[in-house]
Amino acid sequence: MGGDERITLRIARYRPDEGEAEPTLADYEVPLRGDWAVLDGLNYIKDELDGTLSYRWSCRMGICGSCGMMIDGEPRLTCATFLTDLAPGPVRIEPLANFPVIRDLIVDLTDFMHKLGKVRPWLIRDEERPVEEGEYLQTPAQLDEFKQFSMCINCMLCYAACPVYGLDNSFVGPAAIALAHRYDLDSRDEGDRQRLTILAQPEGVWDCTFVGECSAACPKGVDPAGAIQQVKLAAAQEAAKSLLLPWRSR
Ligand code: FES
Repeated sequence: MGGDERITLRIARYRPDEGEAEPTLADYEVPLRGDWAVLDGLNYIKDELDGTLSYRWSCRMGICGSCGMMIDGEPRLTCATFLTDLAPGPVRIEPLANFPVIRDLIVDLTDFMHKLGKVRPWLIRDEERPVEEGEYLQTPAQLDEFKQFSMCINCMLCYAACPVYGLDNSFVGPAAIALAHRYDLDSRDEGDRQRLTILAQPEGVWDCTFVGECSAACPKGVDPAGAIQQVKLAAAQEAAKSLLLPWRSR
């Protein structure tokens, strides 16, 4: 690849705070280098062509989850998507679908943050063990039970890919359910019934129609669709138990 090759990035620009009614698309030419990800192209624009372009990023290595955008219509991490894989372009870059846009490529994640807190993604104990009794130990097999779900980086690609969330954003959504399930599966946790009460509500797991786009979009190999099916099973079992053995339900 020669040093002079370039590729066009067609980027959604939108400043509702400045009175703009609709997003528009603007073209920028950036160098097409073999080791450049889309994020490098955005940084080139910001540094060399147009300092007003707004977007989020931090780690540049697929860890922080802040650089997710729609690239040619697909939700992807811009730091993990190489320009050469998108040549000859133009490459269309838009903010993540299904979220309100704050400015250019930055979306408002308030709704997700609220839902994440609701599903209680932390260790819950009926009774805390005194510190002097030591840590809660786990076997490698117990760790393997939930490890996959702990890889979520909150990048929101799964919400941008989810047609159910796109139609009705009251749905709790894939990442929040996967992270709740991560704690349900943790041998140190005793909060599964608390979470199930929340996830078995109408806007919880039953909204999911098992399209599976969330798992396909995940850049970390997490399977939110699988988590949702497992929580559905647990909810159905709990409902059957309370019907057949009402004295057992609390
Ligand atoms: Fe952190 Fe892309 S910049 S995941």
